[in-house]
Amino acid sequence: MFDEITASEQAIALENEHGAHNYHPLPVVLTKGKGVFLWDVEGKKYYDFLSAYSAVNQGHCHPRILKSLQDQAATLTLTSRAFYNNVLGPYEKYLTDYFGFDKVLPMNTGVEAVETAIKIARKWGYERKGISENEAKIVVADNNFHGRTTTVISFSSDDNARKNFGPFTPGFIGIPYDDLQALESTLLENPDIAAFLVEPIQGEAGVFTPAEDYLAKAAALCQKHHVLFIADEIQTGIARTGSLLAVCGNCSCENHCEKQESYIRPDILILGKALSGGFFPVSAVLADNSVMEVIQPGQHGSTFGGNPLGAKVAMTALEVIREERLAQNARKLGHIFRKRMQALVDRSPLVSAVRGKGLLNAIVINSPSESSTAWDICLALRDNGLLAKPTHGNIIRFAPPLVMTEEQLSDCCDIIETTILGF
Ligand SMILES: Cc1ncc(COP(=O)(O)O)c(C=O)c1O
Repeated sequence: MFDEITASEQAIALENEHGAHNYHPLPVVLTKGKGVFLWDVEGKKYYDFLSAYSAVNQGHCHPRILKSLQDQAATLTLTSRAFYNNVLGPYEKYLTDYFGFDKVLPMNTGVEAVETAIKIARKWGYERKGISENEAKIVVADNNFHGRTTTVISFSSDDNARKNFGPFTPGFIGIPYDDLQALESTLLENPDIAAFLVEPIQGEAGVFTPAEDYLAKAAALCQKHHVLFIADEIQTGIARTGSLLAVCGNCSCENHCEKQESYIRPDILILGKALSGGFFPVSAVLADNSVMEVIQPGQHGSTFGGNPLGAKVAMTALEVIREERLAQNARKLGHIFRKRMQALVDRSPLVSAVRGKGLLNAIVINSPSESSTAWDICLALRDNGLLAKPTHGNIIRFAPPLVMTEEQLSDCCDIIETTILGF
């Protein structure tokens, strides 16, 4: 028997007592989600303005994804990769057609996919580029967030994420984000670079959007120096920033494609989060044959990676993105949201900036990053029926599900304005 939760304090006390304290959640205990809404155990309804860190782009408990999950769960959930199953092949074809790559390597969580991309890039560096054994380097950006494993935190610049977790994995070179000169000089100085790994927008760092031409020029520099350009689109991808991928630039057509001038094609594309619409951990690494074929049997894998349940869920989650035109909606609502927030910046001394793309946005609170103001504002937003969370002290990220309507967005902007003006 397990405890039935009837009051928020009870759930919070249980987590405090029995769970590791590796998170600091906002005090609200959720029990139900539907579309853009969440409900707490006392029955209060909220707008979700975080979408599980952009995993629930399709909205909570999307009925079509739910149906796929239920049907597949009643048929076949997991076979491991010791055998073939009848869903993985169709999924791999669907995903590679959808994103325009030759091959996919399926994994589960985001950080596993990042680890996978690092392994592929290193192996490619040795076997295709001719880098000497154990010399391969990967260039990363300062203030990156790519997950929590030991290798991935090895190249984090966040002291709190790293302290006392060493020794770290070597082979990473950090350069400032959105700095082409730093990238170019690093590539020129070091012939042993296999890849440049970058987030098209730095989400966790506080929604930092680079200069318009940064990604295109970075990709061109990588090509010039025979270095793989790896885009971590775990948070920015799958319609969040108003196009299918953030590397699609300013195009919000239904599919990304090489015909679009603004499309920057990564050599390796990393996806996770919304790939399953929040139902199940599904992540993926996509690349063309010239890169992916460096991986041979026994060199990488995962018991759950490519399981039929996740594969079915992901196909439906992607169908929903396309059929409900969620990239287009994110783009349209994003413009409206930033306009409303800019008006708030102009009126309130408490907010100093708004930035973002599509429905991945943030406001900067005019107080020192170690102060509790942003946290207190999030508590007040919660009381007024909207859930968001600070990222890095004084920055509040706003990332609602992409199924939001214009009317709902306007309602949310009213809540944010009233809360901040009354703070
Ligand atoms: C850009 C990026 N990469 C990787 C990750 C790690 O994903 P996961 O938490 O599923 O391991 C995240 C998670 O927030 C992310 O935003």
